[in-house]
Amino acid sequence: MCLSARFWSAAGVRDDAVSELLAWYDRERRDLPWRRTRDPYAILVSEVMLQQTRVEAVIPYYLRFLERFPDVGALASATLDSVYEMWAGLGYYRRARNLQATAQAVVSLGGFPLVLQDLPGVGEYTAAALASIAFGRPAVALDGNALRVWSRYFAYEGAVMSVAARRFFTERVLGLIPADRAGDFTQAVMELGARVCLARQPRCLVCPLQSGCAALARGLTESIPKPSVKARREKVALCALRIFCGDRVLLERRERDPFLAGQWVTPWFFEPFSQVGPDYLARFPGGEPRRVGTVSHGVTFRDLTIEVWEWETSRESCDEEQRWAGLDARLPRLASLVLELA
Ligand code: ADE
Repeated sequence: MCLSARFWSAAGVRDDAVSELLAWYDRERRDLPWRRTRDPYAILVSEVMLQQTRVEAVIPYYLRFLERFPDVGALASATLDSVYEMWAGLGYYRRARNLQATAQAVVSLGGFPLVLQDLPGVGEYTAAALASIAFGRPAVALDGNALRVWSRYFAYEGAVMSVAARRFFTERVLGLIPADRAGDFTQAVMELGARVCLARQPRCLVCPLQSGCAALARGLTESIPKPSVKARREKVALCALRIFCGDRVLLERRERDPFLAGQWVTPWFFEPFSQVGPDYLARFPGGEPRRVGTVSHGVTFRDLTIEVWEWETSRESCDEEQRWAGLDARLPRLASLVLELA
């Protein structure tokens, strides 16, 4: 490489970094469904789904969701139940509710506002991703991947989840964004974080930013970004009920459920069966309850162990906020694990 032809900007970025990054992206980018559109609504849906969820897992949900709710008006006027139904299995259900609130705000404003963060449910990251990808405006979207890329590029040794780190990267990166390719720049950084600048064993030899990467030059790619102090995972014991009536199973919905608010799920409790079982048995009398076994499931910061009990009832009616569902109902993961336990 001819060193004399390369220069560094005041922000500590080599002046060929952006063109190398975009050329790499043009060559290597995955053909993802949300990269075939500039529709801000579709891009918003993709960005919300991609939070905390892998690309491969999101694709089928994204396609089904847009088929069912093809535009912002369709989502805004849908029932919350139908939105949850399309989200069932994707997890972090608050995202579905927030996304619908965002759609409703867009409809009542008559379009996306200039300041996207004014929308309910749109945080700093989503606003920046949407501004750049859908509207082509310069904005620095810092998700986990981007934070890893930039913390290594600048050899930032502090905590990357901090406000100070966000300011540090935004100040240095904003000026690099090419006016005609703001969205590609954002997605190129995400793509690099997902496929090259990996958390463990980054693939520096094929990285388009290798020649300017301060962490690589100083041998710090393994220690940057500094691992965040992991919250201790809490162990939680639960009990879930499979109450069958023929080939249907009882579902219920609780607005105040701590994990699955507003979702249809098999009844589940923080209390042991000895405490909650008798009440349900009295309301849904029938055969002898049987302990089926236990299901283990991890959700944010918690490891759940769910003891599953079942019986057959002769009661065909149910109460308010309960319904009988076929065994093939699309349910949140926790409820499907309970139903699938053999
Ligand atoms: N992660 C978050 N946003 C993404 C995008 N637009 N493409 C790929 N991965 C992403």
